[in-house]
Amino acid sequence: MNTSGTDTRAFKASMRTQWDAAAAGWDTHSPALRAWLRTSTEAMIAMAGVVAGSRVLDVAAGAGDQTLDLAERVGPSGAVVATDLSTAIIARARDRVRRAGFDHVQCRVADGEDLQVEEASFDAVVCRLGLMLFPDALQGLREMRRALRPGGGVCTIVFSGPERNPCLRILMGTALRHAGRPAPDPFAAGSLFSLARPGHIDALFHEAGFRDVATTAVDASFPMPSVDDYLAFVRSSASPILQILSGLGEEAANAAWDDIREQLRAFDTPAGWEGPNELLLTAARRPG
Ligand SMILES: C[S@@+](CC[C@H](N)C(=O)[O-])C[C@H]1O[C@@H](n2cnc3c(N)ncnc32)[C@H](O)[C@@H]1O
Repeated sequence: MNTSGTDTRAFKASMRTQWDAAAAGWDTHSPALRAWLRTSTEAMIAMAGVVAGSRVLDVAAGAGDQTLDLAERVGPSGAVVATDLSTAIIARARDRVRRAGFDHVQCRVADGEDLQVEEASFDAVVCRLGLMLFPDALQGLREMRRALRPGGGVCTIVFSGPERNPCLRILMGTALRHAGRPAPDPFAAGSLFSLARPGHIDALFHEAGFRDVATTAVDASFPMPSVDDYLAFVRSSASPILQILSGLGEEAANAAWDDIREQLRAFDTPAGWEGPNELLLTAARRPG
């Protein structure tokens, strides 16, 4: 991406609009998301060093699924601040927090590249499946480091590469082909695979001033009762794909979805459907 101020502002405005539109779908599918991401979320919380009484910042928190886990873990003697670029999706998080009766959680709108939090005010920072969507991930990491107290821990989750995430590759590639758009650089800033090149995310963490940086690849295959259940999730929540197809008429969009469905049936199993998926968990520490 050209990173001029105007391009970045337009990119973020479009990102906000997309996630405002996908907020209800992401929230409604939280039971499936929760099952898909359970193991990696537990690992993320542990790797960031979150314990009872911690003060935790949850960046790009979405509809707050991992926020609720954090709230449980820190307990009433701790605190969680959940932030997101999208007003509609963070409103969903706020609602879930209220329904869970957690008084020690705040939900706010904030760009991850400009968090608007006090320096050194958190013991831990987490970011689940958000950082790769930032146009300037390095600036996002600098903000996380600034928010952390010296010695505090961070853990982020991003997608690993297209070869390890064939469903995402099929979704992106097929949507682009039907939209008549050339395939962009798969590792372009702000895209699903932007932080997937080997060593890239570690280098960014180091450049942002973190130490004890370590990345672990975690298998996170996505089980669903059927390919149609997976497609129902994608069609209501996967904003990058929806954005690509948004310019097509109904017939052309349906043809794209039929093509996607046919390819995704490669992951039918005797028990239902299971999409292979791999995530990168990166943990680090602000120097003490
Ligand atoms: C794939 S969702 C993940 C949400 C949540 N963390 C989860 O795992 O359920 C990505 C989220 O990143 C947010 N996001 C994208 N760019 C952002 C930015 N620059 N600052 C803050 N949030 C951002 C989106 O609004 C969206 O809620």
